[in-house]
Amino acid sequence: MELRNYIAEKRVLIEESLKKYIYNEIDAPVVREAMAYSLFAGGKRLRPILAIMACELFNGDVKKLMPFACSLEFIHTYSLIHDDLPAMNNDDYRRGKLTNHRVFGEGFAVLAGDALLNKAYEILLETISNDNRPEFIMAAQEISRAAGVKGMIGGQAMDLYYENKNISHEELKNIHDKKTGALLKASLTVGALIANAPKKDMETINEYGNLIGRAFQIADDILDIKGNKERLGKDTGKDEKKSTYVKYFGILESEKIAKETVDEAKKIISVYGDKGILFKNLADYIICRDI
Ligand code: IPE
Ligand code: IPE
Ligand code: MG
Repeated sequence: MELRNYIAEKRVLIEESLKKYIYNEIDAPVVREAMAYSLFAGGKRLRPILAIMACELFNGDVKKLMPFACSLEFIHTYSLIHDDLPAMNNDDYRRGKLTNHRVFGEGFAVLAGDALLNKAYEILLETISNDNRPEFIMAAQEISRAAGVKGMIGGQAMDLYYENKNISHEELKNIHDKKTGALLKASLTVGALIANAPKKDMETINEYGNLIGRAFQIADDILDIKGNKERLGKDTGKDEKKSTYVKYFGILESEKIAKETVDEAKKIISVYGDKGILFKNLADYIICRDI
């Protein structure tokens, strides 16, 4: 199946599952509305899609994966709401709409982010308390590690710390691998775990995940300069204070590095031959995308 059609098909499935979770929420003033606002503002759903792709590659049961896939999107959406706050990146637009705090105020935006993060763990704990098979526990552990200080939050902390500071290439790579790469990679790992993929395959999928995660953030840095604000759904030219690949290497060299990183990822996934074609196309999409 063509990647575009595959993404469209899986997005429907993901949106349906996300809705089931969020509309079951008891009514708390403003917060539930603020959660739903950002969650259904039209994200690409890349993390759950990656999880489904990995699960299907190893013939896993996607139904079993869905709670994990949704929890990844809950965590991702919370991270965006908090990332956009004045205390972090101070952004006005996200997913083509005003940012959460611009609509609901900072207090409710903080709470909506907190609530989405909590929702993710509620889903994970409910799933493993209903069925405590090892792969479920490992998947929940993988998500919590990737979202935490050794992963996304650690990367966000470095991102803030290195504003207006000099940075080495190694540190820059580390920021990208953590703040963005960790959750993207975990998405693939979780899909493979639920499918009970053998150790060797877990390693392959992890290596691929590492590379596309890094390439994704390099592309994000490039889009901040070259992207179209309307298409992207967020403001461009916002990375001035940040340590980015574009700042470190310039646009052309960053594009070259992103392409090399994606080519390496494609080489790694080529062990699956035709079965891995979607992964190759997705790797290309990550650096060709305009949103
Ligand atoms: C944006 O992620 C933030 C980064 C980690 C670079 P996405 O580009 O996946 O955002 P959505 O989910 O499609 O809005
Ligand atoms: C966002 O990174 C990463 C997370 C939210 C964890 P950026 O700040 O570089 O991404 P955008 O440009 O706001 O989407
Ligand atoms: Mg940001």
